[in-house]
Amino acid sequence: MKAVLMKAGLAALALAATCLAVPAAPAAASDNGLSIRPAMGWSSWSFVRRWPDETKMKAQADALVSSGLADKGYVYVNLDDFYQKCDSNGFMVDDYGRWAVDTAKFPSGIKALADYVHAKGLKFGFYVTPGIAKNAVTANKPIEGTSYHAQDIADTSQTHKNYNCKNMYRLKYSHPGAQAFINSWADQMASWGVDYLKIDGVDASTVADVEAWDKALRQTGRPINFALSNNLPIAQATTWKRLANSWRTQGDVECYCGSGPNGSGYPLTDWAHVVSRFNSAASWQQYAGPGGWNDYDSLQIGNGDQVGLTADQRRSHMTHWAMAASPLLLGTDLTALTSVDLAMLKNDRLIAVNQDGVAAQRVVNSGVNQVWRKREANGDYIVALYNTGTSGNSTVSVTWAQAGFTGPAAVTNLWSGASEGTVASSYSATLRPGETRLIRARPAAAATRYEAENATISQGAAESNHSGFSGTGFVNADNVTGSYVEFTVNAAEAGSRTVTIRYANGTSVNRPMSVAVNGAAVQTRDFPGTGDWDTWADATLTVSLNAGANTVRLTGTTANGGPNVDYLDLS
Ligand code: GCU
Repeated sequence: MKAVLMKAGLAALALAATCLAVPAAPAAASDNGLSIRPAMGWSSWSFVRRWPDETKMKAQADALVSSGLADKGYVYVNLDDFYQKCDSNGFMVDDYGRWAVDTAKFPSGIKALADYVHAKGLKFGFYVTPGIAKNAVTANKPIEGTSYHAQDIADTSQTHKNYNCKNMYRLKYSHPGAQAFINSWADQMASWGVDYLKIDGVDASTVADVEAWDKALRQTGRPINFALSNNLPIAQATTWKRLANSWRTQGDVECYCGSGPNGSGYPLTDWAHVVSRFNSAASWQQYAGPGGWNDYDSLQIGNGDQVGLTADQRRSHMTHWAMAASPLLLGTDLTALTSVDLAMLKNDRLIAVNQDGVAAQRVVNSGVNQVWRKREANGDYIVALYNTGTSGNSTVSVTWAQAGFTGPAAVTNLWSGASEGTVASSYSATLRPGETRLIRARPAAAATRYEAENATISQGAAESNHSGFSGTGFVNADNVTGSYVEFTVNAAEAGSRTVTIRYANGTSVNRPMSVAVNGAAVQTRDFPGTGDWDTWADATLTVSLNAGANTVRLTGTTANGGPNVDYLDLS
């Protein structure tokens, strides 16, 4: 089935290294320059389903603008499947073997629809699946601009996944006509004004098709967001990220439990389909970033409870998509928005959490309780607490250390915008079933980070052979007594400061280090095992500094030397 997608982009914002699992070598994102931030807009699949037409598409585009959603950044109007026409042999095709558009549904054609959408300041999305239609091959249609024909490039022994007219043969990419065919299709879309293309039916067997479409879209010269669907295997995550701007991590969020044909109509989804995205997001988190996003499928908010979610569940739905930096593509009927839901969708604080482009990590997953956290580039921490259960209140708690920092923080409730004042070291909320609490915690003191790999190392080396470090590596001090790493830190004024040392100790034996400030030993500190060398923990200590430059030396006091050291943060 399908669902929506999103877009993505590139650009390497320095996603200020977070304190928890940052991949050692983040997979490269598509360099097509698109989807620097997750796409926002609407897709036809959830509500319009198998019956899109130009009247309905225009009405949704109109509503995107008149509701004020477009002004908030929801600009994509994506036409999903079922704009085509089938006969008993599959898709009907045009003169060059590409899917023919159903002129009963789109009498003015796709270009006219895209023009209409563009005239409203919006962007137009379109839909395809891999391969070539059987009807193109039977009629041996020419490949536009070449002397090749459909029968030269089709492998009629194998078909692709398709959710509509089916009968899509695989392409023989060893033949140059295959790429030329996809190019001609992409050129047609570009000439119509397509800004976003969802390719559905993608799986591990269709990497060559995704590559061909990526190439084809680029050679059009038109910026076209490239979105993959659905239920992409995580084993190929770095491939999807290299080729596309977004990828669906699971099957559809729709429940197919509505009263209409094929389960269309209300309800559009249910809580189980939404909450199943939480586990998916935990696994896929590391692959999200500017240019390429994990797509958790359409946002079913807009039409009140009838979508299949309570108001609490809808806020949790929006919260999770924001935390995960998923595309925000609405699936609902924009011509019948409720005021409660419109307010959710227009909440600037929630949109900002989505558009910060940082995918959150799960730090609590215990029964119905979940807590997710992320650190934004400005040093703020965004924390979401959820009761994912369907009955009974639950008290959900998180310490600031779990969120990734220490010391007091100013807390803002991001759904309401209300300040909750300064909170010392942990936060908890008693939540109704399906309810969420989303907060911003701004540490009272911004930390200055000193990377260990830039510090002075005696008997040891800067290395990068484990994952999750910040900067370019960490220090592995030799396994001898007396090996050390020495930081030079600056204090604006003399006084007591909190220092956070991030370290990994993959053994089960404590690796104490003595801490010396400006040459004077101040304490010996324990650095117990963290589980493995990829798992980092924070150790905080209080030190007294002079104004100006100070040295902080960490020296192993046992024959094992110290732990691996990632950085020192000075509050
Ligand atoms: C392993 C590990 C190193 C670590 C070392 C140690 O070799 O890969 O990163 O520093 O153990 O025991 O100190």
